[in-house]
Amino acid sequence: MGQPDVEVREGATRLVVPDPGDASGPGDSSMPVFYNPVAVAVRDMNVSLFRALERRNLDAMDLLAGTGASGIRLLNEVRAEWSMSLNDINPLATRYIRRNLRINGLSARVMRRPAHRALDSGSYDHIDVDPFGSPVPFLPFTVATVRHRGTVGFTATDTAVLCGTYPAASRRRYGIQTEKTPFRHEVGVRALVSYVVRRFAEQERAARPLIAFAEEHFYRAVFHVESGSRRSDALLGSLGYVGYRQETGERWVQEDPARGLTGPIWTGPLGDRTLIGRMRPVSERTEWLVALLLEEVDQVPYHFNTDEFGSRLGGLIPRLVDAVQTLRDAGFSASPTHFSPTGFKTDATFEEAGEAFASGAAR
Ligand SMILES: C[S@@+](CC[C@H](N)C(=O)[O-])C[C@H]1O[C@@H](n2cnc3c(N)ncnc32)[C@H](O)[C@@H]1O
Repeated sequence: MGQPDVEVREGATRLVVPDPGDASGPGDSSMPVFYNPVAVAVRDMNVSLFRALERRNLDAMDLLAGTGASGIRLLNEVRAEWSMSLNDINPLATRYIRRNLRINGLSARVMRRPAHRALDSGSYDHIDVDPFGSPVPFLPFTVATVRHRGTVGFTATDTAVLCGTYPAASRRRYGIQTEKTPFRHEVGVRALVSYVVRRFAEQERAARPLIAFAEEHFYRAVFHVESGSRRSDALLGSLGYVGYRQETGERWVQEDPARGLTGPIWTGPLGDRTLIGRMRPVSERTEWLVALLLEEVDQVPYHFNTDEFGSRLGGLIPRLVDAVQTLRDAGFSASPTHFSPTGFKTDATFEEAGEAFASGAAR
């Protein structure tokens, strides 16, 4: 197959893949067949999520399957008697997919079509879209083919565009206006969710996030899809704008757009708390991620970072655990966030958090 193959193990699944060497980035289309070991945590999360969903006998489509890693892991590890289709336009990829199905003793439909043609042949209970870069080109036909009460998963690696590093591209590609904030990966994930919610709403379909997170170079969101204008209107009601004032550290959320704000982003929960609570992580990394998501899922749609309070506290930066505890002791909600190792979410204002830390330090 051109380059040396290696056998790797992900969860309970064996995969023969082109040797990824010391891959550390999101990967790109220059690879003869795409396999990224860095994305293993995203696939681990997928396995845990679909085990927790307990959906059986589904028609599922891994639309951009590469070596089949994601779809084959669902088939092998969720064990829910799914009828799985795996598609990739690259003929080399479909050879890996067939081989990986064989070594795991599984059967599935393997297709080698351009994505929009692959979905020609029917509708699906679950569609997974894991492109190079942005999922935007794949949205229109995904919206049309996922079934009522189905699920759809989108991965994005154009994180710089989503989080606002290139404001013109964010506006053009995702219809989001962006300003610089100290919580840009959170903005990026919420921008992706907002985009998906709006595209589905155009066709009177409601895509409600079951889980949304950032992991390494990936933003990932999985949605539950229902049909109906009332349901989609309700979701549109959770879109809004966040403001950030650098001079004061202040953050706020408002419904309407204005100059200097970021949005429309998703300001609702980062997923379904009950479902996330049922997820049983399959690796150390995902154990960490699921635990943090559970804490922060219903919190405010932005976060603070401990180092932002240094100058206010005479150069003393509170430890994250102390910052969270101090805020809770002062009667605020507070949690760490997976978006930043120094980040925390709270319903306290920047001013109130600073006061709580200052009085905590004085005690
Ligand atoms: C990021 S990779 C998928 C990785 C895979 N899901 C995994 O977990 O390892 C994207 C794949 O999409 C395929 N692809 C790109 N454009 C496509 C299109 N228009 N139709 C079908 N496949 C496409 C590429 O060949 C590539 O294998």
